[in-house]
Order: sequence, then C-alpha cells, then structure tokens
Amino acid sequence: MDTENNSPAWFKQAVFYQIYPQSFNDSNHDGIGDIPGIIQKLDYLQWLGINAVWINPCFVSPFRDAGYDVDDYCRIAPRYGTNQDLFRLCREAHRRGIKVCLDLVAGHTSIDHPWFKASCRQKGNKYSNRYIWTSSTISEANSTLSLIRGYSERDGNYVANCFNFQPALNYGFAKPDQSWQQPVDAPGPLETRKELIKIMNYWLGHGVDGFRVDMAFSLVKMDPRHKETIKLWQDIGQKIRARYPDVVLVSEWGNPEESIAAGFDIDFVLHIGLGGYTDLMLNEKSFFRRHGNGKIQGFVKSYLEQVVTVKGKGLISVPSANHDVKRPCADGRTARDLKVIFTFLLTWPGVPFIFYGDEIGMRYIPGLLSKEGGYDRTGSRTPMQWDNGPNAGFSTAHKKRLYLPLDPRRNRPTVERQASDPGSLLNHVRDLIALRRCSPALQADGTLIPLPAENNDHHFAYLRQAAGERFLIVLNPSAEPSSVRINGIKPGNLSPQICHGAQACAEGDDIQIKLAGISYGVFKF
Ligand code: NOJ
Ligand code: CA
Repeated sequence: MDTENNSPAWFKQAVFYQIYPQSFNDSNHDGIGDIPGIIQKLDYLQWLGINAVWINPCFVSPFRDAGYDVDDYCRIAPRYGTNQDLFRLCREAHRRGIKVCLDLVAGHTSIDHPWFKASCRQKGNKYSNRYIWTSSTISEANSTLSLIRGYSERDGNYVANCFNFQPALNYGFAKPDQSWQQPVDAPGPLETRKELIKIMNYWLGHGVDGFRVDMAFSLVKMDPRHKETIKLWQDIGQKIRARYPDVVLVSEWGNPEESIAAGFDIDFVLHIGLGGYTDLMLNEKSFFRRHGNGKIQGFVKSYLEQVVTVKGKGLISVPSANHDVKRPCADGRTARDLKVIFTFLLTWPGVPFIFYGDEIGMRYIPGLLSKEGGYDRTGSRTPMQWDNGPNAGFSTAHKKRLYLPLDPRRNRPTVERQASDPGSLLNHVRDLIALRRCSPALQADGTLIPLPAENNDHHFAYLRQAAGERFLIVLNPSAEPSSVRINGIKPGNLSPQICHGAQACAEGDDIQIKLAGISYGVFKF
C-alpha cells in the first residue's frame, strides 16, 4: 500500500511535537508556561529532530476549558505573552527548520466572547445569528442538540458544542426542519464562515504555517455523513490555499475518509471517531501491554481500511498521546515499554505527533484536582520536566503557583538526565527521528507491508520500503519472549539499525528473529 499526497514536500518527513503552552516552559516566573518560554526551548526541539509544532489554544480566554473557549481569536492570551511574541516564535522556529501550527477552535467560542454577549441581547444586532438559538426559551424545542436554557435576556436557548459554556457558532444546518434552524447559505452562517477565514488569514499573514482544527467535524449541524461540513471546509480550504498554498490543515475529526475529502492534510487515529487507538494504547486489552493479551490485528485492519480511503490525497497520524487522553506512561508502563511504542510510532507511515514529555516518559499523574476543565485529562497536562533542579526547571515560581503540580517522584524523568544517557528513552526517540528523517522508506509515503500475525502472537512485524530502501521492524511489547520467522531474507543481509533484544539467526533459507521480552528491532536490508 502506498500513500502519496498533495501536501507540501516537507510534510512527507514531518515529525510534529504538540505543546500544551501552559505546561511547557515558564519564562517570567508566574508559574505558567508562555510563548517566550517556548522560544527558549526551540533549540531543544531542533536537537530532538522535530520539524513542526502544534500549540494548543493560546488566545485570550477565561480558560474554563484550557483555552478551548476563546474570547478573542486574534490576540494572544496575556498570560502567554503578546502577538509580537508569537510572531517572533514563528521567525525563530523557521530559522531552525520548524513549522508552527496553532489550534483553531472553529466550532464554538467562550460565553464571554463579545460576539456571544451581543448575540444574547433581545434586540436584534449584527451578531444575533452568529450562534445557534432556538426561537423561545420556554416552549420546548425539539432537538437532539445540547440546548442551554435560560442563560440570556434573549428569548431562546443556545446550542452548546461541548461544555455548556462553549456556544456553537452558526454554520447552519444541513437540512433545516424548524424555523430557528438556518441553511448553510443563509446570511448568518455565511458571515460566520467569513469571520473564520479572516482569523486564519490573520495568523497565516504573520508567519503561522497551519492549524490543527478543533472538532472540525462539528460545524454544520444535523449533517448526516458530514456532507455539508465537508463542503464548507472545501470552500474554506480553497480560499485559504489561494493565498497560502503551503498551509497545513490538521483535523480533529477521527474519520480520514471524510476529513481528507474536506481538504485536510492529515487526520488522527484517536480515542474518538473510527478508533483503533484505544485498542492500541488505552484499554486493558491494548496491544502495547506487558501481559501480551492484546491483539494488533484490529488496529491494523482498521488502519489499512482508512488508508485505502485517503490514498494519494492525505495522511493519517497515530499520535503518542494528546492533552485529552492518558499518556502512554500509565498503567504500569515504564520507559522500557515506551521504547517499543516509540519504535512503532516513528517507523509507522503518516505523520507522527509526539505529545510534549512523552519523549522522556513523563507519567500520567492520577488523582489530580481538575484544572481548567481538564477532569481526568488533567494528569496528562502537568509541567514539562526539564532538569533536576527545583520545579524540574519548568519555572522559578513558588511550587504552589505552578499551573499544575509536578510529578512528585524523586526520580521523575528529565530532559537533563536523559540527554546525557545514551541508553535513555529520549536518545532512543532522537535516534528514531534521525533515522526516519533520512530514510524515505520510513516516512509518510513509504510502503507498509504488515507481516501475517497469528492470533496468539505477542509480537508485530512489518516491512517499510521506498526508493530501493527496505526496513524490517519487529516489536514485542509483551514480557514473554517470542520469535518471528521471515521468508526470503538472509540474516547476513539484515543490518540492525536500532535494536534491543532482537536477534536475527539463519533458519535454512529463511531467518528467525528471536525477540526477548519487551524488545524491538529496526533492520535495514
Ligand atoms: C477537543 C479538544 O482537544 C478538547 O481539549 C476540548 O475540550 C474540546 N475539543 C472542546 O473544544
Ligand atoms: Ca509565564
């Protein structure tokens, strides 16, 4: 199976890094990460080998949902710095060969956004149709949407997109069947669309390279198979690309067939949407568990089906985690297990996304009090662990003022400790990125050939190939040793690149790879 796409050339070898800005690096001692703090760490990101970042929302917000509730799309939240800081971040990142993508919360704003405040007024105004309102507060509206009652002086209920304080912007309904539902080409929805394009152009005009679009699937309401939402994004993409042909659009959609048709460059395999990710990482039966009971087949089948639908048009990303799910270092996994996981993630097709801190095996911290609407996601959002000094080098503020508490363990992993240890997870991730960046076979478009797996296998083996270059990758996440027999390759032809506990031996004309418990091997042949 080949994947090709029409995205900018650098994209084929892209390795993204996701930055949760409040927890990355605090430059002004207030306990909250900020944009100058990110700039200070660009050398680290360059050293790691990544070439693109996605920054979670960094705009003015009351932060009831960590910034996914925007008050002003064109202004950086003062706690993170200024617009000038963001422009400087773009320049400094570009100097190091790193692209910058922002988070575009396209589907909803905060209830404090001036548009929403105006929209709440009974007297009609420019923003009356910027959000979706029913026509009466008291009489029941018949809707499967989430209606918030009695909030405004305006007689009507508004539609919430996610949390109740995230009113849905009005992009219209696919098939309006009540008087308060407007078609996608009504003046209100068209104005909303125009505003969104204006916001995107503003940031692109200041050096931003693209966007990860929050809940990109959610814009048009009651839209079977997202047909109208797809058309809407096609229209937006066309207008944006006419000015900025190299823009990168990453969707939170979870259904590549739809999102790539909508014009996005990549979509994620996620905990939402078509899935596969949960079986891979997140549940008791995940493949990446030491008990070895989890099966890879379900994920591979679902992944290959999704890839076929986007072949030649777009890519799929399997991320290490994100701010909405448990980090991989959870449920008893250690850095040793993460080495196997990263060997998979960084030799898999598509575009890898590394969630900040996963590269050193930062732990999901259970039991934290919810912060800014995090709830059980809060444990994945703790401060980055840079060094072995106070507050792990994240901030010089008093410990009590930190955005979230740090992993309290004395031996918590840090960049400082791992950078100087050749056997660390961090150096493993760095080596894998370096190998991927110079090996077309391992990049987005390299052919993937999964080798047949028996139902009771604990391991997974696959080939990647392109431009006369071939790799064999073998993974055994289970604690039990295993072995793989492979036809048609002579052991002498296999050159180990990044291996631990994986040994190739002759077996007649074939080879056998012996796999110790929790082992991996990337071989070139
Ligand atoms: C998805 C984001 O990733 C999540 O963090 C947020 O809470 C919701 N969208 C609502 O914007
Ligand atoms: Ca700060």
